[in-house]
Amino acid sequence: MLYETFKFLHVLGAIILVGNVTVTAVWKVFADRTREATVVAFGQRLVTITDWSLTAAGIVLIIVGGYGAALTARMDLFGAKWLVWGQILFAVSGIIWAAILVPVQVRQARAARAFATGGEIPEAYRRDSRRWLVWGILATVPLVVAVWLMVYKPI
Ligand code: HEM
Repeated sequence: MLYETFKFLHVLGAIILVGNVTVTAVWKVFADRTREATVVAFGQRLVTITDWSLTAAGIVLIIVGGYGAALTARMDLFGAKWLVWGQILFAVSGIIWAAILVPVQVRQARAARAFATGGEIPEAYRRDSRRWLVWGILATVPLVVAVWLMVYKPI
């Protein structure tokens, strides 16, 4: 029962995290493409809000649920390869998020506050949007591979 509870929290975290990072990319791209300063700034504000609520909640649930389930079942965290690679992929995604995506988002949020009530969207903002999308996709791929590994456990 305790094991299933941890696993439930873990899977819920994976749904929230992967769901949020993919959907955020879709509506941010569409908001940016309007080229309307107020819409772009609102989209950017939502990136900050959903990151600090949904992304953070997903990360916490994956960690608490994943390690809770593994420890409850007395699994060796460095035994089965699917579990080892799950942790590595999660860490790789987290490093990209913390080292590249968060700084870009902070820079974009600051820029967006300046044009939130209208005005020119600087070229640097658009460059950061492209960078954010590319690195966001690169950070999402390891998470999707982790879901696959955890479900199929081929190794
Ligand atoms: C932090 C490192 C992680 C640990 C310690 C961990 C641990 C676990 C454990 C112990 C299970 C239960 C396996 C079973 O009952 O057969 C599990 C299942 C699962 N994990 Fe992870 N996991 C981690 C990362 C991830 C990541 C990053 C994702 C996806 C974003 C993920 C998605 C899943 C899914 C979807 C399942 C359900 C698989 C199934 O029951 O068929 N895990 N994980």
